[in-house]
Amino acid sequence: MTNLPESTLERLIETARAVRLNAYAPYSKFWVGAAVLDEGGTISVGCNMENGAYPLGTCAEAVALGSMVASGGKECRVIVIVGTGDTLITPCGGCRQRIAELAVADTEIYCVAETGDERKKLSVDDVLPNGFRL
Ligand code: THU
Repeated sequence: MTNLPESTLERLIETARAVRLNAYAPYSKFWVGAAVLDEGGTISVGCNMENGAYPLGTCAEAVALGSMVASGGKECRVIVIVGTGDTLITPCGGCRQRIAELAVADTEIYCVAETGDERKKLSVDDVLPNGFRL
């Protein structure tokens, strides 16, 4: 998103870090939080939600994007993802496709750690070059 104010990005990072603490990840113990900014300026959040039937687990990004859609958002302008520990995690393959579905040309994907100022900024084309689109 062009002209994303630094204060909005800070707020998204803070929000993703906070929602991460609500993750339900008793199996992997890898807690993930995501915050999405839509075209109306609304922030939607998600955290991963695992299941004892392992394939039913849901990623934080999927939950956040679903929440954006449920609250009336149409475009994911910015998504912030925070994993567990110092490593900056990037979305899994399925979530790259989910992000691409709801993204606009200049959607920004920020990967941040639990703490610290390090950020990896990616575009949809970075994470899903030549992606499938209907
Ligand atoms: N996970 C996410 O929520 N988002 C990602 O981008 C990568 C992985 C979750 C899935 C699972 O609950 C846990 O992290 C470990 O893979």
